[in-house]
Amino acid sequence: MLKNLLATKPVAPAGHVDAGEPVEGSLQGETALKRTLTGNQLIMLGIGAVIGAGIFVLTGHAAAEHAGPAIVLSFVLAGIACALAGLCYAEFAAMLPVSGSAYSYSYATLGEFVAWFIGWNLVLEYLFAASTVAVGWSGYLNSLLGSFGLALPAALAAAPLNVVDGSLVYTGGIINLPAVFIIAAISGLCYVGITQSAFVNSIIVAIKVTVILLFVAFSLQFVNPDNWVPFIPENQGPGRYGFDGIVRGAAVVFFAYIGFDAVSTAAGEAKNPQRDMPRGILGSLLICTVIYIIVSAVLTGMLPYSQLSTPKPVATALEAYPSLLWLKHVVELGAIAGLSSVILVMLMGQPRIFYAMAQDGLLPRFFGKVHPKHQTPYIGTIIVGVVAAALAGFLPIGLLGELVSMGTLLAFATVCIGVMVLRRTRPDLARPFRVPAASIICPLGAAACLYLFWQPFSQHWHLMVGWTAIGMAIYFLYGYRNSKLRKR
Ligand code: ALA
Repeated sequence: MLKNLLATKPVAPAGHVDAGEPVEGSLQGETALKRTLTGNQLIMLGIGAVIGAGIFVLTGHAAAEHAGPAIVLSFVLAGIACALAGLCYAEFAAMLPVSGSAYSYSYATLGEFVAWFIGWNLVLEYLFAASTVAVGWSGYLNSLLGSFGLALPAALAAAPLNVVDGSLVYTGGIINLPAVFIIAAISGLCYVGITQSAFVNSIIVAIKVTVILLFVAFSLQFVNPDNWVPFIPENQGPGRYGFDGIVRGAAVVFFAYIGFDAVSTAAGEAKNPQRDMPRGILGSLLICTVIYIIVSAVLTGMLPYSQLSTPKPVATALEAYPSLLWLKHVVELGAIAGLSSVILVMLMGQPRIFYAMAQDGLLPRFFGKVHPKHQTPYIGTIIVGVVAAALAGFLPIGLLGELVSMGTLLAFATVCIGVMVLRRTRPDLARPFRVPAASIICPLGAAACLYLFWQPFSQHWHLMVGWTAIGMAIYFLYGYRNSKLRKR
């Protein structure tokens, strides 16, 4: 049995793939995904997935409660961990241009059991993140509507259940209607086509980046360097200020970086993945890191960090300056746009990972079906949309943000380890992109991700253990028995 669990899927890298060529592993005789995405569209997908709730919602709390003005260093630290992992993703995605991302890379290097475990964790990163961000989207929309006296009744803008002090309580809400609406609308778009989805994403990204640039340009004059002193406030206990606070802050704002790896789930639909995957992954990561560092520096310069602990820190900072009030609504619009593209890329990525898992027999075959006209994994797209909408509409999903980060960090660490393994087991494979100084970068990347993973895990380990147990049950009841690798 151990031999089965550790069996790896033989790597058959594409020599060179072109637009229109079927994706490796598509079900025989059935429609395959189509290769249409350009390098720029991939960078836009990365930025679309990355800039969202992390910067528009979490930054203020992380500065006020954990790092102070040194939240800038938290962003640098989390950015370094992501850059190390990003290099490893780039090597894999260029070498194996398939849609399964970390799941497929693990299957090729660490065996079926680990691959399932990572695939299961990617559900946290994609499906749960989409629901979490949809709840944030709903909050921003309702607040914007409220400014014009059009806010929805509270019962229609909140899930009926919430967790308070560890127990479930009834909130008086019926359904979070805006959250359900945005997931349904975006799922419809994902159903219709990757080209349309990428086009809409590019427009949204242009809007949100413009709004962020406007914020920086007009707010810079109100930055008071005194607010940056002391830059690292004295330690006041575990995870609060001092170096410990910077690290805890990095674990919180890591959420802001989640998504650059989603570019790799589109590898099966990239025109020239060998060249464009590294560009898409590393390019979007670099642009987002620079934006995060600048925005967090401006925010903490505009207001003392202790005043930023709100769910809308950017709007809060603007409210302090009457001449900037006009910008507040623009920022709210930018946030609504920003969060929409995160949801879009996440809802696009999840069915493609399920698609790859279905090709391998680890999930039911219908997840691998591609629409004959739209060439999208349409059944998976519908199922993911329904589940994500139900989670966002009815459950206290906002609490699961840490679970999202934990699942993602484990996937990142596994990809770093996978690069080292494959360099040893298959040194012969053509690698269009190679991680430089891999013997240093890969272990460092794995260690950095596992270190960040440990921060929330030490507190919320029971959530992670519960999630893993459910995944193991499904694997042994279905995946283990139906694995194509075993049948071969
Ligand atoms: N990085 C994404 C966000 O911040 C998940 O919303």
